[in-house]
Amino acid sequence: MDKRKLILDCDPGHDDAIGILLAGRDPSIDLMGITVVSGNQTIDNTVRNALNVCQYLGLDVPVYPGSPNSLVRVRPPVAADIHGSTGLDGPVFEPLTRKAEGKHEALYIVDALRAAEEPVTIATTGPMTNLALAMRLAPDILPKIKEVAFMGGSYGLGNVTPAAEFNIITDAEAAYVVFNSGCKLTMVGLDVTRKVLCLPSVVERMERIGNRASRLFVDLVKFFNKTQKEIFGWEGGPLHDPLTIAWLIDPSVLTLKPMHCTVDIRGTEGYGRTNCDYFGYHKQTPNVDVAVEVDVAKFWDIIEEGIRRYD
Ligand code: RIB
Ligand code: CA
Repeated sequence: MDKRKLILDCDPGHDDAIGILLAGRDPSIDLMGITVVSGNQTIDNTVRNALNVCQYLGLDVPVYPGSPNSLVRVRPPVAADIHGSTGLDGPVFEPLTRKAEGKHEALYIVDALRAAEEPVTIATTGPMTNLALAMRLAPDILPKIKEVAFMGGSYGLGNVTPAAEFNIITDAEAAYVVFNSGCKLTMVGLDVTRKVLCLPSVVERMERIGNRASRLFVDLVKFFNKTQKEIFGWEGGPLHDPLTIAWLIDPSVLTLKPMHCTVDIRGTEGYGRTNCDYFGYHKQTPNVDVAVEVDVAKFWDIIEEGIRRYD
């Protein structure tokens, strides 16, 4: 089976870290590089977190630092209330010896796509700043993007505001660039990610695996679940980002519905909203395949299989 060549752009972040875990050893994925963006925390913290996760899991994947700011607006505050002051509070890592690459991630994306013999999948699980930068810097790479699978947005409620989800509102102009790129887009939004809550029974199931990845998973979700309960009242944290990776591994985990979607970059209360025409009322050509249903049991099976791939 040909492996999917993948660049994962993320802002670790507890759920991003589990996305890296899932992508890192899956036999269907060739994880070419991890590109890091600010979002959940500052760029220094998110880069360090990505390096710590890769070092802990023994993933020999290059990590590229990305943008500390948004394309246009001042970056909103980091999500320290959810991910802590480091962005990955909870796990305790050994001293970090792994180093980030010297190239800016937008330049890496451009160079990697230009050099690629086959189109590359890009998964984003943070704000889309770097992907938008790469697209604007070098439009010639667009045909080399197989598809973009992204965690972000919702056709229902937001989280940072009633209208908007964190990854989109943090850089709505960047999302606007990606939504209008013409690339094949798959949106894994809050509508489905809020259905994969990491309940205590799930934590116990993954803890019983008892390997390094299992211990990291448990340390991550124990902190993540605590803050999600305090802020949103969830009995388990929604594993937003790993669901995007799970879909790349087994597309049957999600049900998609093509919709015409736009990003509000002009609004005030609506700024950052993904306006998805669920009913196709305006007869506009769909530009995004939006996830509308999730097979929750299958998702947790994918997570368990992912954890078991480690020693
Ligand atoms: O809204 C949830 C998203 O914002 C997730 O990707 C989380 O990691 C944060 O980046
Ligand atoms: Ca994220």
